[in-house]
Amino acid sequence: MGIFMIRAIIDRRSIRKFKSDDIPKSVIEEIIKAGILAPSSKNRQPWKFIVTAGAEKERLLTAMEEGLEREKREPLLPDSADYRKGAEYTLGIMRQAPVVIFIVNVLGQSLERTLMPEERIYEICNAQSIGAAVENMILAATEAGLGSLWICDTFFAQREFNERLNTDGELFAAMAVGYADEMPLARPRKSMEDVVDWRFYE
Ligand SMILES: Cc1cc2nc3c(=O)[nH]c(=O)nc-3n(C[C@H](O)[C@H](O)[C@H](O)COP(=O)(O)O)c2cc1C
Repeated sequence: MGIFMIRAIIDRRSIRKFKSDDIPKSVIEEIIKAGILAPSSKNRQPWKFIVTAGAEKERLLTAMEEGLEREKREPLLPDSADYRKGAEYTLGIMRQAPVVIFIVNVLGQSLERTLMPEERIYEICNAQSIGAAVENMILAATEAGLGSLWICDTFFAQREFNERLNTDGELFAAMAVGYADEMPLARPRKSMEDVVDWRFYE
């Protein structure tokens, strides 16, 4: 571990098996605080966090189930059809996790709209900001001894979620949280040589 490396960055794994134990609300609050502390483009803080458990989580996951069924009949994402089975698997993980946090881009544009360059830039900046918030939350969860999964398979049910989340904006991602019931090995990473183009250091 390098001297500047944060332990949670190394220890974090995507967790896909959770114990059923509840998480104290105070711990979830700390995780959300970590999200709120993220930097954001022009400090717009374009996020909203909808914390669900129990019946409310199940109500929203029923929307995801309906969205996946609708995708089979009339796909919003025809080019992603191969990934639909993966989304069904993710749905099962979300059902198992004691808490699912839905992260909404309150300034988000509908997936069904074609954007002008300025709007795309605004959207990309807001997306980076919310991505930073999600990563902060995931690292905070790791630090608290919890497992988590960053989820974008919700896009298969974007319409259904937006109808049922009862909030302005577009669903951006979800985060499943709970005590891990597995210890996955680190997944392979591309090497420094693969991803860095040094243009300064020898
Ligand atoms: C933006 C984003 C979306 C993701 N969506 C899903 C998902 O919907 N379902 C899932 O099982 N994993 C999802 N993952 C987890 C990735 O598969 C995982 O991060 C990657 O395989 C590397 O493994 P690791 O997180 O254990 O290092 C997502 C990760 C990110 C960053």
